[in-house]
Amino acid sequence: MKIAFVGKGGSGKTTLSSLFIRHLAAAEAPVVAVDADINQHLGAALGLDDAAAAALPAMGAHLPLIKEYLRGTNPRITSAETMIKTTPPGEGSRLLRVVEDNPVYEACARTVRLDDGEIRLMATGPFTESDLGVACYHSKVGAVELCLNHLVDGPQEYVVVDMTAGSDSFASGMFTRFDMTFLVAEPTRKGVSVYRQYKEYARDFGVSLKVVGNKVQGRDDLEFLQDEVGDDLLVTVGHSDWVRAMEKGRPPRFELLEAANRTALQTLQDAAEDSYAHRDWERYTRQMVHFHLKNAESWGNAKTGADLAAQVDPAFVLGEHTPVPQPG
Ligand SMILES: Nc1ncnc2c1ncn2[C@@H]1O[C@H](COP(=O)(O)OP(=O)(O)OP(=O)(O)O)[C@@H](O)[C@H]1O
Ligand SMILES: [Mg+2]
Repeated sequence: MKIAFVGKGGSGKTTLSSLFIRHLAAAEAPVVAVDADINQHLGAALGLDDAAAAALPAMGAHLPLIKEYLRGTNPRITSAETMIKTTPPGEGSRLLRVVEDNPVYEACARTVRLDDGEIRLMATGPFTESDLGVACYHSKVGAVELCLNHLVDGPQEYVVVDMTAGSDSFASGMFTRFDMTFLVAEPTRKGVSVYRQYKEYARDFGVSLKVVGNKVQGRDDLEFLQDEVGDDLLVTVGHSDWVRAMEKGRPPRFELLEAANRTALQTLQDAAEDSYAHRDWERYTRQMVHFHLKNAESWGNAKTGADLAAQVDPAFVLGEHTPVPQPG
């Protein structure tokens, strides 16, 4: 299943993503973690030192390789150059699986050892000031979107993406790629306004969105979020001394995380699993085609000089004819 953590800058997306990833690893679930946030901190939050975090390969820099691999022998995609971030898979395309070795992981993923197992980490690569709002930024996040659209994920396999709640994810359709989107919100008006905006975009696409309150202290904070968010409030997390110790570079063993926070992480996992159980692969495929046609028309055709609508394989449904690997 595919899970995103989004929210306002500084709300705790990276912190909660990293705790959730540790929680899954402790349960021996296979995890691919993706850092797609503007501030690339997921590696550090998973315990990498500065040198190891800086040495993570940037997906954005491997876009040609990713495209070349994924298009495989798909006759509708005649070159990697005409493949844009929304180009959907079709017959002949190569798909990715959570548990396998492939050239994309080889180039872009690194294994991170945690207390209780290991996970794969991929990162878009750092965004610079000049990236924001220009093509470079889009291509970095686009590498993630391409991978998500070519990924056949099973019920007990996890893809966890730490990302910004920025407008790029709405333009491209990235926000529809997840079984569950956790919107991390502090009990503030700004935190809640990001939730409202996201909800507005999500509404028409059946996106499962739940709010995770963070840095919630006491009854007043809780009531504020309950009033503003209503039933979308899934769970709240308070200040964590464990997180604070980790920030000092002295992470205690994960099993020492506060009991209330461990329970909250289990609530997240249960909610994601519930949602995955209702995954509709046909709708999932239809939505990627919808956003591809939209992007083709608004900029893709002009940029590539090709009619990108012709890349759509009308008979193709992701997941259906490619058996999902069953765990165990
Ligand atoms: N529950 C918590 N307990 C203690 N500290 C926390 C908690 N949640 C977040 N923090 C701290 O708040 C700061 C911001 O958190 P974090 O980096 O996870 O936010 P973010 O949403 O990813 O921010 P950015 O937009 O910069 O990527 C960090 O220093 C983090 O350690
Ligand atoms: Mg972050």
